[in-house]
Amino acid sequence: KRIGVLGMPMDLGQGRRGVDMGPSAIRYARLQAVLEELGHEVHDYGDVDIPIAESLRHERESGGLSYLEPIRRACEDAIAHLEAMPDGAFPILLGGDHSVAMASVTGASRHRRIGVIWVDAHADFNTPETSPSGNIHGMPLAHLCGLGDPRLVNLGWEGAKVRPEDVVLIGIRSLDPGEVRLLRERGVTVYTMKEVDTLRVPAIAEAIAGKFKGFERVHVSLDADVLDPEIAPGVGTPVPGGLTYREAHLLMELLCDTGLVTSLDLVEVNPILDIANRTARIMVELASSLLGKKIY
Ligand code: ARG
Ligand code: MN
Ligand code: MN
Ligand code: MN
Repeated sequence: KRIGVLGMPMDLGQGRRGVDMGPSAIRYARLQAVLEELGHEVHDYGDVDIPIAESLRHERESGGLSYLEPIRRACEDAIAHLEAMPDGAFPILLGGDHSVAMASVTGASRHRRIGVIWVDAHADFNTPETSPSGNIHGMPLAHLCGLGDPRLVNLGWEGAKVRPEDVVLIGIRSLDPGEVRLLRERGVTVYTMKEVDTLRVPAIAEAIAGKFKGFERVHVSLDADVLDPEIAPGVGTPVPGGLTYREAHLLMELLCDTGLVTSLDLVEVNPILDIANRTARIMVELASSLLGKKIY
């Protein structure tokens, strides 16, 4: 495959500093070399310019949403970079907090029907009305589905980028009350940790393969906090009881086998909160499983 890597050192979508260093940490964990060893051709397009939080004090609040305008501008910039990648390339977006997925999913959909696999402890399905925090990293999926503030819904072009019924969540174990209501109302498929424990990863991967069969584009958005914090401590919003090392790898291996996945996000890695870059290293390993690493 031809893989295009783009970094978004974005920390404006949440309150803890350090997640802006995620792209560096992931590159330092040898993303490019590891993917090249698998036979892929990798081009790194560098980072999108993101303003430093300290320089933006005057833009902090815009209608109850922290840093909406700078986040919107950075996403528009990233969308333009993604659209400039050659046709047929497999984009990998490095976050940054999860608000960056508003750019990657928009870039991946380009007016086509797209399936989204959101692998996360959280649903990130808040709207400004339901959000308890005002943090935009808790809202990207809702906005991609057309709900919430029009300035974020209309990124790239007007309207929703994915149908809620074409979204699958896996690893979920922390939802706000408004998210539960919206997810049910919109018909999103939700595999919480209870389903991971009872159905197990192979049955879930098989259901996903069936659901997205025939889709031209399927995007995987991988939030590092889906992993159990014991193995991936470098995240800003850890929740106990996450995916084990093998569950996460098996999911990526089985998604690879479907041959359906066309783009990927690696987000929410915060090296300041990490232990010796462990979390970035696991994310690179998971990317390599998704992109064809075989043991035998
Ligand atoms: N649901 C919480 C919120 O809206 C936490 C979201 C965490 N999101 C993330 N991408 N880590 O603030
Ligand atoms: Mn630029
Ligand atoms: Mn997330
Ligand atoms: Mn999360």
